[in-house]
Amino acid sequence: MNLIIHPDAASAANAAAAMMAQALAAHPRLVLGLATGGTVEPVYARLVELHRQHSLDFSRCRTFNLDEYVGLPAHHRNSYRHFMNERLFLQVNLELANTHLPDGTAPDLSAECLRYESEIAASGGIDLQLLGIGQNGHIGFNEPGAELDSRTHVQTLSATTRAQNSRLFTAPDQMPAQAITMGLGTIRDCRQCLLLATGREKAGIIRQTLTSAPTPAIPATVLHEHPDCTVILDAAAASQLEGLQLPGVALLTNQWK
Ligand code: PGA
Repeated sequence: MNLIIHPDAASAANAAAAMMAQALAAHPRLVLGLATGGTVEPVYARLVELHRQHSLDFSRCRTFNLDEYVGLPAHHRNSYRHFMNERLFLQVNLELANTHLPDGTAPDLSAECLRYESEIAASGGIDLQLLGIGQNGHIGFNEPGAELDSRTHVQTLSATTRAQNSRLFTAPDQMPAQAITMGLGTIRDCRQCLLLATGREKAGIIRQTLTSAPTPAIPATVLHEHPDCTVILDAAAASQLEGLQLPGVALLTNQWK
């Protein structure tokens, strides 16, 4: 696992966007894995800027998102399809037909999970997967207790996740109790992973993730098993790492001090 620490959230997000942009420029048919949430919003803003000002070309790129709420149609303002359309897909020259999220309104959710896995496989697999992290260590919506080799599945959301995300819903009780998420095995199969965490509220879970061996109690620890994973933090998210031994973690850049 490689670790990069930036002084603030904006430069951490720019660094994540730069990695994605470089990969896309080198391989225009890149299969990008995408994430939603507050942390990655500035990453998408930067990618849009790179498209507008530096002609970053998404025309042949294909994308797969980590997850989608069960029961929310694409046009719902809290669906992840809506988030992605607004923040990235409709702002750059991506073909919407090349953008994929699980369908949380599918009549048969188990069949939808299998369909999503097959679609990823048919694309040749995900080249670069962007990840955020929940305060309980979830990646995608793989909550604590998740199997480390799970595939795309329906996940009941934990109380922590509901508390963290319900603020985004007009009425907190409108937040779905379940989501479809890529599994930890699906994420581990991506050729490269890029986890971005910013802000002091992520410092505790980042310390636990980077210091713990892989355990279902902290789903993000599965990334220790990944051969090509980079973690980008801002100083606030890295603030509990000082003086710690981090076995298996290579500190590539520390622009903290
Ligand atoms: P956040 O969500 O970026 O809004 O903190 C991250 C996540 O829950 O994966």
